Amino acid sequence: MAQYVELASGYKMPTVGLGTWQATNATEIESAVDEALKAGYRHIDTAYLYENEKSIGKVLREWLDSGRVKREDLFIVTKLPGIGVHPDRVPYFLKKSLESLQLDYVDLYLIHSPIGMQYVNDTEMWPAKDGEPLYDMDTDLEATWKAMEKEVDAGHAKSIGVSNFDEDQVERIVKIARIPISNIQVELQVYMQQKSLRETCRKHNISVCSYGPIGSPGRKALFEKRGMKFEDPGLLDDAVVKSIAEHHNKTTAQILLRFLVQEGIIVIPKSTNPQRLRANINIFDFDLSQDDMTRLTALDRKEDGRFFTFAAFKGINNHPECPKFIKSRIQK
Ligand SMILES: NC(=O)c1ccc[n+]([C@@H]2O[C@H](COP(=O)([O-])OP(=O)(O)OC[C@H]3O[C@@H](n4cnc5c(N)ncnc54)[C@H](OP(=O)(O)O)[C@@H]3O)[C@@H](O)[C@H]2O)c1
Repeated sequence: MAQYVELASGYKMPTVGLGTWQATNATEIESAVDEALKAGYRHIDTAYLYENEKSIGKVLREWLDSGRVKREDLFIVTKLPGIGVHPDRVPYFLKKSLESLQLDYVDLYLIHSPIGMQYVNDTEMWPAKDGEPLYDMDTDLEATWKAMEKEVDAGHAKSIGVSNFDEDQVERIVKIARIPISNIQVELQVYMQQKSLRETCRKHNISVCSYGPIGSPGRKALFEKRGMKFEDPGLLDDAVVKSIAEHHNKTTAQILLRFLVQEGIIVIPKSTNPQRLRANINIFDFDLSQDDMTRLTALDRKEDGRFFTFAAFKGINNHPECPKFIKSRIQK
């Protein structure tokens, strides 16, 4: 089983990376990145939005300076925030991320979301006035992509890609791209297998990275903190996944991850727990049989299995670049 996926840019992206969303506590994220590097992770997924790039950068610097890892063996991904989705702001936000990460370049820079927000200052990620989100209604994805390409030319990013784009948005970028999309990061898990998007990506040689690969159970605490209802997909307790896990003497998380990797998908499970993060990368010593794969494939609920609906973002469906999958969900 390939431990790397070759990108359109020619670079190799490790199939398993460490997710870091919701890991903002400096001590916690520093120790998690250190443990992850010890466990063999070389791919770390972060974002300007996650507010943890400085902590990650500190640990990377220690590893690089001590010679324990070479820069070319790391694969660091970060993302342009919504407040940066504007051609004039791409260089600014990538520079800020590089400074925090203490790096000269990132391996992959993604447009985090097609929905541009107005820029108020560096820290207000969801600017609002009188309770109304300040969306940038003039978001120009094609012009933003052109600015991303210039960052590759300048040597600040080896590869570029998108996240949370719908298929039409992907096709639009493919049409105008001088530097192709190397990767798309979207919600993708056993209940929502993104067959159609994956087919589009296969056609255009775009690698696919799954977020929420084990169902993002950590969102429960986040939603409750914000006084919102949380619908736990319960992937880790699914009966089919459990029976396959028992058969292979693996955890349900390992089955969920192995399933995606065996399908050629890149996964970035988040864990700050040393045992769990070790287990999450320890998925290359067994194979799921054809029968296992068929049973797991049959768990696909298509759009009904999507759990990241973005429906809590007031007025999001009025944005001209609101992806179709959000619009259709909100109209339901
Ligand atoms: N592009 C985007 O818009 C976007 C959106 C969401 C996420 N992401 C990226 O994708 C990454 C992964 O998604 P996610 O964090 O939402 O969800 P996830 O990786 O599916 O789930 C992470 C949660 O599962 C727990 N966990 C991890 N390993 C486990 C295991 N082996 N057994 C049981 N529980 C386990 C973690 O807690 P512990 O830490 O306590 O282990 C954490 O609460 C993010 O961290 C982020 O880097 C990107």
